[in-house]
Amino acid sequence: MAQFRIQGQQPLQGEIAVTGAKNAALKFIAASLMCDAPVTLTNVPNIEDVRRMLHLVQSLGAGVQHNVEAHTVVIDPTTVNTQTISAELAKTIRPSIMFVGPLIARYGTARIGYPGGCVIGRRPIDLYLKGYERFGAQITSSDESFVFTAPTPRAMEFMFPLISVVATETFMITATRIPGTTVLKNCAMEPEVVALAEFLNSCGARITGAGTPTISIEGVTALSGGTVAMIPDRLEAGTFVILGALTRSNIRVTKCIPEHLENILDHLREMGVPFTVGPDWIETQPYSHTLKAINIKTHEYPGFVTDLQAPFTVLLTQAAGTSLVHETIFEGRMFYTDLLNRMGANIILCDPHRAIVEGPTALSGRKLDSPDIRAGIAMVLAGLAARGETIIGNIEQVDRGYESIDARLRSLGAAIIRE
Ligand code: EPU
Repeated sequence: MAQFRIQGQQPLQGEIAVTGAKNAALKFIAASLMCDAPVTLTNVPNIEDVRRMLHLVQSLGAGVQHNVEAHTVVIDPTTVNTQTISAELAKTIRPSIMFVGPLIARYGTARIGYPGGCVIGRRPIDLYLKGYERFGAQITSSDESFVFTAPTPRAMEFMFPLISVVATETFMITATRIPGTTVLKNCAMEPEVVALAEFLNSCGARITGAGTPTISIEGVTALSGGTVAMIPDRLEAGTFVILGALTRSNIRVTKCIPEHLENILDHLREMGVPFTVGPDWIETQPYSHTLKAINIKTHEYPGFVTDLQAPFTVLLTQAAGTSLVHETIFEGRMFYTDLLNRMGANIILCDPHRAIVEGPTALSGRKLDSPDIRAGIAMVLAGLAARGETIIGNIEQVDRGYESIDARLRSLGAAIIRE
């Protein structure tokens, strides 16, 4: 098992370019199944989750050409020859559940094992099952898998009882080729949803309202292929900006869309973090004052993004006073606070959703394991800011979401090696 060895408190400086968004690439891979011709995805991050999703689409018979160096993937959906995703493959990645939509819309049937994913809460799939049923699927389940049968899928109206990013995207994709008009209400409004709708429309789909709570999709009979670049990963950009703030460094984060991080940037400003923003970059500045403690509460886009809650909490350990961190979306995403306490932080976990951070506290290096992608990168950030040596195990979790993170951090001056 690989691990990161970090010598903390090295001066960091320089430019770091953001890769394409993981949480866009995964959905574009599933969406390509709706097309009648090859789809070329560019600016695709070279990360484990992308490889897992490509493996899934390949297992369905689609052609996949992955040019890792060029960050490009070509998917040929015309050779799909099965509608079954094995239990073994399904559990490698939670968005495997997305494939059911295209399969029932195009072939009237799908069989899939139970999906996996980061252990950050209960993460049920009830919404997907409800939605697929509304699209006309009959569902049977066994200990290992679900079988969906929809000989004549139909358009539907669906009010999401809670906002779900992947379920919004899945139903939007599915409806593009089901006759009639599907209306989805209380939808996720993340930039990745908008990017996906724009791409599908460029292939001939008729989607309106993506980026608002109500999305309408008028089914069409065919979708062409096409070429699309993944939007910049706002979570990676946010992580690097938080790193600059945490280490008081001059770091210029390039190839990003600052507008996608408005909420995070506002919170940083409120804490007293100095930074400047350009059309496609954000640059943190060195500073010597103490940061102010603030409260954060995660929320769907455009609110405070849950995926940056853990990295932001590392920063809050360096602020003077008491901060309340309220994670409203997942019930298992705060247990890393215990790891930060082992490094010297003073955090009280009140319940699975709320933690109180008292700062500032000096952090010192420890040997830890990465719990999931985002808590894992938070540990890397903590290690870079801590005195002494930090060793982080289970870094496969970090690799699922961040491309060559060690090499890229080294280019800023970080002392981090993979061993
Ligand atoms: N939920 C249900 N039932 C369902 C589906 C979801 O109750 O059938 C609940 C979840 O348990 C959670 C809430 O709905 O409490 C929101 O979850 P959502 O479905 O929005 O999460 P997701 O779509 O599975 C995506 C991202 C996550 C990100 C969340 C929230 C992808 C591939 N994943 O997950 O990203 O944290 O939205 O923004 O887009 C990550 O990148 O590290 C990551 C976990």
